[in-house]
Amino acid sequence: MIQSELRRFDVPFEQISKQREYVALAKTVLESRMCGKSAKAYVHTFGCQGNVSDSERLKGWLSQIGYSFTDDIESADLVLYNTCAVREHAHDRVFGNVGALKPIKEKNPDMIIVLCGCMMQQEHVWQKIRKSYPYVNLVFGTHSHHRLPELLYNVLRGGKRVFDVFETEGFIAEGMPVHRDGTFKGWLPIMYGCNNFCSYCIVPYVRGRERSRKSSDVLAEARELIAAGCKDITLLGQNVNSYNRGSDEMSFAQLLREINAIEGDFRIRFMTSHPKDCTFELLDAMAECEKVSKHLHLPCQSGNDRVLGEMNRGYTREKYLSLVSYARKVMPDISLTSDIIVGFPGETYEEFKDTVSLIEEVGFTSLFTFIYSPREGTKASRMPDPVSREEKGRWFRELTQAQEKIASKRCSNMIGRTYRVLAEEFNGGMLSGRTDGSVMIDFPGDESLVGSFCQVRVTSARNWTLSGELIG
Ligand code: 5AD
Ligand code: SF4
Repeated sequence: MIQSELRRFDVPFEQISKQREYVALAKTVLESRMCGKSAKAYVHTFGCQGNVSDSERLKGWLSQIGYSFTDDIESADLVLYNTCAVREHAHDRVFGNVGALKPIKEKNPDMIIVLCGCMMQQEHVWQKIRKSYPYVNLVFGTHSHHRLPELLYNVLRGGKRVFDVFETEGFIAEGMPVHRDGTFKGWLPIMYGCNNFCSYCIVPYVRGRERSRKSSDVLAEARELIAAGCKDITLLGQNVNSYNRGSDEMSFAQLLREINAIEGDFRIRFMTSHPKDCTFELLDAMAECEKVSKHLHLPCQSGNDRVLGEMNRGYTREKYLSLVSYARKVMPDISLTSDIIVGFPGETYEEFKDTVSLIEEVGFTSLFTFIYSPREGTKASRMPDPVSREEKGRWFRELTQAQEKIASKRCSNMIGRTYRVLAEEFNGGMLSGRTDGSVMIDFPGDESLVGSFCQVRVTSARNWTLSGELIG
């Protein structure tokens, strides 16, 4: 496929300009509704960094329309939940939160409630909202973000409920305003959607097909972030390794090199890498680029080949381990993290033990571990799943205990060594921040250091929490 075909999904610039006209209209209606008071929005994001980044763009529109942001839901004039569908737990939390809004809205009937994101892309979800949650004013799916001003204007003006959910392969909308949550940490989406259809995963159904932003747009946004003082840029995509795949545009490895060449004191991270598309070329690029963090989040999901096959992951344990060993060869200090699913349908205890042996063999810095959660519409949700939830819970604890031992050993090995840490938070005289390998260290220091790189020597390790001291 050539790039011109890939880009046929771009939202024309005129459509974004049209939304700017809706911003002005919505602003006028909002001002008259507020009678001189300032309008406040409460925005909560469930799920992954992709959603966090989307929310920054939605907040960009809200801010232009005239909202400022609040953490106090009771006094908010607009509540927006950007939802996640990846596991049952996130799904239940969203419904719990929406239910809890009912008494709040009874006290404040002018409050506008907006639901968007992955969950709203599922028909059974938005139908339930339509029928059983009449106090929700606006629902839109993942393909309507760039149209928030128009949708909100229709709600503000007419008082009618608005539902805007449709299925499409997806497109790319450039030119939306961004209200960033942080000043020194920035999310930078480089692609959207997913083509992999791992058998357990809902993402390809709710986010559409994989599509890459133009490298010139990504580079322009990277330069903007750096000029604004950003020290930590995370490039986002479901499978960053296949950035621009099928086109003669820049590969992900090249993109890393280009961002690395931008002048400034910052570091580059990325997520998520898919083992089936992770190449030695990419690992070489990581090794060469001094601003790229030597941290690779490489979800393995399972350490057993039969289970990996059933998951439709497209790699074997051996291929995974070969990537790990090449990564360690070219970056001896690399920090590896991963995602793991316990209790995939039909997984046996012996197969699960292969996952335990894999994590022991690799020695991950940390893991995100999940019990398999059936998602309606996915292939795995139709597979026989005989192992009980209690049994899966025991396996889960076995895995986390094994990882705790690994992490605690890795942490002890860090004692006495000095790391470059970006100080992120200040609390009670203590700073905390992450190393390039994404390991958190607490150290005493001054609040003025928040947002700067510090040299920190690790002095002690309690399980997997590290303490250190500033050097120099
Ligand atoms: N059940 C449990 N975990 C899941 N993930 C994705 N779908 C499911 C599911 N149905 C996990 C995977 C993925 C991470 C983002 O969420 O480990 O890498
Ligand atoms: Fe889901 Fe697999 Fe795509 Fe990741 S790569 S979003 S797990 S389908």
